[in-house]
Amino acid sequence: MAARDAAWEALRDEFALPPASMENLRQLFLTEARAGLAGSDSSLRMLPTYLTRRVTGEETGEYFALDLGGTHFRVLQLRLEGGGRIGPVRQRQFKVPDAAKRGSGAELFGFLADCVSAFVAAECGGEAAGDIGFTFSFPAAQTAIDAGTLVAWNKGFAAADAIGADVVALLQAQLEARGLKMRVTALANDTVGTMAAAAYSCPGTAMGVIFGTGTNAAYVEQAAKIGKGRGVEDGSRETEMAINTEWGNLDTAAVRNEHDAAVDAASENPGLQRFEKMVSGMYLGELLRTALAAPAVRAGFSRTCAAGFDAAFSERFSLHTSTLAAIEADATPDLAEVAHLLAEAGVQGTLADRSLLRDACAAVSTRAALLAAVGIASLLELAQSEPGPATVAVDGTVFERYPGFQARMEGGLEMLLGPERARDVSLVLTKDGSGVGAAIIAAAAAQARGETQ
Ligand code: GLC
Repeated sequence: MAARDAAWEALRDEFALPPASMENLRQLFLTEARAGLAGSDSSLRMLPTYLTRRVTGEETGEYFALDLGGTHFRVLQLRLEGGGRIGPVRQRQFKVPDAAKRGSGAELFGFLADCVSAFVAAECGGEAAGDIGFTFSFPAAQTAIDAGTLVAWNKGFAAADAIGADVVALLQAQLEARGLKMRVTALANDTVGTMAAAAYSCPGTAMGVIFGTGTNAAYVEQAAKIGKGRGVEDGSRETEMAINTEWGNLDTAAVRNEHDAAVDAASENPGLQRFEKMVSGMYLGELLRTALAAPAVRAGFSRTCAAGFDAAFSERFSLHTSTLAAIEADATPDLAEVAHLLAEAGVQGTLADRSLLRDACAAVSTRAALLAAVGIASLLELAQSEPGPATVAVDGTVFERYPGFQARMEGGLEMLLGPERARDVSLVLTKDGSGVGAAIIAAAAAQARGETQ
């Protein structure tokens, strides 16, 4: 029993995020965000998006949207009807092969164009023309609404020669090589797309946030607060612009533990995306896997169970965040579902083992939810000129499916903002908004060019 208690205490202390640490991180977030906006060195890139119009819900027309951001690539075709209404959406989803994720830029963008060809053959009678909104969920330094160079890959992508290249030009060239007569007219991060999709029916939406494979957020900033040469030129009539914060890269050195450091060091992008590595779906399972292998924690499990963990979870990323979610969802008194999940992985655990495992999942996921709250509370301070009701559009599997994630996050918001201001924040699930949002942004770009459909 003593070893079990010691293991639990180690986990609890390592993954604790006391209110004072949350507050310090919020202050750091604000300092880094202001530096990023000004164009100074900062872990928050605060990327300009060149989206300078608020979505009104009156954008109309027929558009394609392409959505690349994680395990799948989606092709959509839809009609924006105005009045906040969207017609039926035709869509197909394609799994992105590892070879395309880690090959050359031409291979990856060639694969995307092949998927578009397949969609056009199956859904459009082999012929299609029109504007495309391209959701690209990686940091891209935009120079226009339809141009942006890739800053860095993450989430397991590594087509190295694409870094520094304009991703719209890469995609357009591959589409043309296949005789496709479509034109990429808007580039959008998934957070910006999610914000646009929510704003289509709820124009006051304050920000778009993703808690999925990765994590990030976008909001609308006043032009006057954005540094010169970062998208808003002198004498321009623009008064505001959506900013892609890329908060996944926030420097979390002050709050990270030894397991975070180990996960980061073993990753493809050490030193980068440190907030993301503590919060997002790609990493929560890996963090727990790393913690379970630490001697002080391992000693808390029965010998058979610990040996089972060693065998089942020896490979990086072999323990998935979806398994943690399933473990925490088990409400049976004897944790029968956990026993079943472990048995499937070839692990045998006593009730004490299963209950320690569930507590360990909760330690990792609760800290993630509290960090998520720090992100939202910090960004709210930038997004709102004065306190008041705020609609936050949120998407991503962790937010949608991880049991208790939203409630713990709301608890964190209450700690940081106080109960009254926290009540003003509505977290609204905007499912699959990123693709639809890119189509809306393409429509807004067409309006700005004076072309209306
Ligand atoms: C990563 C990407 C970011 C994206 C997020 C969620 O953090 O850098 O651009 O928004 O994942 O998909």
